[in-house]
Amino acid sequence: MARLPPHLAVASGAFLLLLVVVSPCHAAAGGGPRPTRLKAVAMPVSRDDTTKQYVATFQQRTPRVAVKAVVDLSGGATLWVDCYAGYVSSSYAGVPCGSKSCRLVKSPSCYIACLGSPASPACLNRTCTGHAENTVTSSVGRGNVITDVLSLPTTFHPARGPGPLAAAPEFLFTCGPTSLTEGLAGGATGMVSLSRARFALPTQLAGTFRFSRRFALCLPSAPADAGVVVFGDARYVFDDLDHSNSLLYTPLIRTDKSTEYFISLKRIVMDDRAVPLNATLLDVGENGMGGTKLSTVSPYTVLETSIHEAVTSAFAASMATAGIPRVPAVAPFELCYDRSKMESSAIAGELIVPVVELYVQSEVKSKVAPWMVRGVNLMVRAGDEALCLAVVDGGVAPETSVVIGGHMMEEILLVFDLEKSRLGFTPNLGAFGLSCSKFRLG
Ligand SMILES: *[C@@H]1O[C@H](CO)[C@@H](O)[C@H](O)[C@H]1NC(C)=O
Ligand SMILES: *[C@@H]1O[C@H](CO)[C@@H](O)[C@H](O)[C@H]1NC(C)=O
Repeated sequence: MARLPPHLAVASGAFLLLLVVVSPCHAAAGGGPRPTRLKAVAMPVSRDDTTKQYVATFQQRTPRVAVKAVVDLSGGATLWVDCYAGYVSSSYAGVPCGSKSCRLVKSPSCYIACLGSPASPACLNRTCTGHAENTVTSSVGRGNVITDVLSLPTTFHPARGPGPLAAAPEFLFTCGPTSLTEGLAGGATGMVSLSRARFALPTQLAGTFRFSRRFALCLPSAPADAGVVVFGDARYVFDDLDHSNSLLYTPLIRTDKSTEYFISLKRIVMDDRAVPLNATLLDVGENGMGGTKLSTVSPYTVLETSIHEAVTSAFAASMATAGIPRVPAVAPFELCYDRSKMESSAIAGELIVPVVELYVQSEVKSKVAPWMVRGVNLMVRAGDEALCLAVVDGGVAPETSVVIGGHMMEEILLVFDLEKSRLGFTPNLGAFGLSCSKFRLG
């Protein structure tokens, strides 16, 4: 209890009551500045050229080690890492069978007894087990559900290196078997789920650190560049300028069947002309089929066959009008062009391509917002001479009609606001002379 200042020693009862209420704060602060509540944490992301996957790095365990895991903006339920090879930690604990947390994981079950010894994350008695999903290869494994310390930097400044860490002491995740890491980028030992599931990172970190269920994703376009996921209530500062108000928003569509991120794409416009599309395919049906979602585990944008056909024909017609010569197709793409003829002499780094706009539902009902797709998000290099339209045919009647893949999301700030159920997006940051590596936190 703080000692009363002399001039208050004779204060009224009301004052005394007030002092009793506020004094623990003063005692805790110890006279120094009050600890400020953590607003946000950052998770660095890099691009793996071989697999076209985005790889996140975070600190885990005691003693701390850096763990690399593939960014999973799709349907994964939790973080999962390989706990069978080289997992050393003094701070892990199994989640008990039948506990509240266990009931909330995906497909929970109970591992009664592990006869091996000594105990390890992979060998525990009476421990909850759950699903671990490799969403790249669509393989599923089972493993113990455990908790351990997970730490992320509270600053982001690639040139300066990571700043002070914030630790989530009991971060819940699933142990995947070593075989489940097949198909992941070199060095990655698991996947970091960014879905809206209860134990995926956005919701779990928000619960631990008491910040908003909101995260921003900025995917880099080259292996040497830095990208980032920022969890919490950050301002979106690039270099020294706050771009938080440069975002347009579209509602995130909630479906009971999925923890993925669906948006409402209304039409695709190319050189000011609407591409003729079957509107039924753009809506999510009651069976969960159709619609448009975002996925980082799909490197390129995948379109249902009739949409793919309409988009590629419109694109080919526009490029023919511009006189850009086609070159032989490079699988899985259909339309490839002579790169040397596409580079604009007027603006360095700019490509001569049709102006493509994805019109998505705006926050105002009956209005739409334009997602401008820049040339670099539309075209992908194939070999030395070709640039190909980076869309692939998803077949007839796929589960989702339009899957916006990683390439189309690179160097764009995407803000997934789960509190307000909306997605914020900017144009490609290159339009402002910026890139994800110029993002700053702290
Ligand atoms: C699990 O329980 C069994 C039987 O009681 C025991 O033999 C074994 O050592 C225990 N395993 C661990 C990892 O504690
Ligand atoms: C549009 O797509 C729906 C769903 O696949 C299909 O039933 C319908 O026949 C299509 N309409 C046209 C005009 O192709």
